[in-house]
Amino acid sequence: VENHSALARRIGELKREKNAVILAHYYTAPEVQAVADFLGDSLALSVEAQSVEADVILFAGVHFMAETAKVLCPDKKVLIPCPEAGCSLADSCDAGAFAAFRAQHPDHTVVSYVNTTVEVKALTDICCTSSNALKVVESIPADRPVIFAPDRNLGSYIRKLTGRENMLLWDGACHVHEEFSLEKLLALKREHPAAKVVAHPECRAYIVAVADYVGSTAGILSYCGQSDAQEFIVVTEAGILAEMRRRHPEKRFIPAPPDDETCGCNNCRYMKMVTLENIAAALETLSPEIVLDERIRRLAERSIRNMINIK
Ligand code: 13P
Repeated sequence: VENHSALARRIGELKREKNAVILAHYYTAPEVQAVADFLGDSLALSVEAQSVEADVILFAGVHFMAETAKVLCPDKKVLIPCPEAGCSLADSCDAGAFAAFRAQHPDHTVVSYVNTTVEVKALTDICCTSSNALKVVESIPADRPVIFAPDRNLGSYIRKLTGRENMLLWDGACHVHEEFSLEKLLALKREHPAAKVVAHPECRAYIVAVADYVGSTAGILSYCGQSDAQEFIVVTEAGILAEMRRRHPEKRFIPAPPDDETCGCNNCRYMKMVTLENIAAALETLSPEIVLDERIRRLAERSIRNMINIK
């Protein structure tokens, strides 16, 4: 902790020296969240990136998130403290294979979750996040067929909510959200009968079916704030517990266990690769930096702006 506070102080100095801001996702480690200027879910982070005035954006999150910030802010330096921090969902959708799939269905409107590489976003008509996926799909005329990529769980959840038969799903998934155990979740519910179950739509359908609330990380946070319940069973990545406990110290938040509890897989190993050490080093050296091909960037920007423009 001593080490954390010294590093946090150093990061504060470097931010001022380099005119930098730190954007962080709720899934990062608590000490990383504590040095952020802005903490949010995927949608809020994309929107926030557009209005940053500083010269440098350090993205405390995984690679696709920093890429999204660079797509929206091409003139800024966007730093990624750990470029190896990938995403199992983004990895499940290879741009070459996706281009071939799209070419087989030329009449489909392509909706992609933001958890994709910039190359996949460039092949997309409208991006979405878990908080606006329903709105994005509903903005497409009901008779227009849709390709939804890459998360099959979010896709089937939206297909169920809209009753839309004409939605083709890419077969991708998040390694954290797929691992939650229904049996253990039901046992926890029996132990805590007054607790509300809050789940992310990247979870499997049988988990979503027993949840009291399904939504993005920001949606889950606001539900827990508004609900009269005092206990919540949280079925998403465990990093969010830090913000929940900060906002509502009087309430109890119980993490739902994965199938194999020894694997620690309700923790995203990629998000936890972002550390105070690599944040300080990135600010010190102004690297590693996200660099994008301009043609791909422009195409990706169109699909992200199409999302942001859907109110
Ligand atoms: P949200 O930030 O939209 O809740 O999504 C979480 C996520 O899966 C990030 O990888």
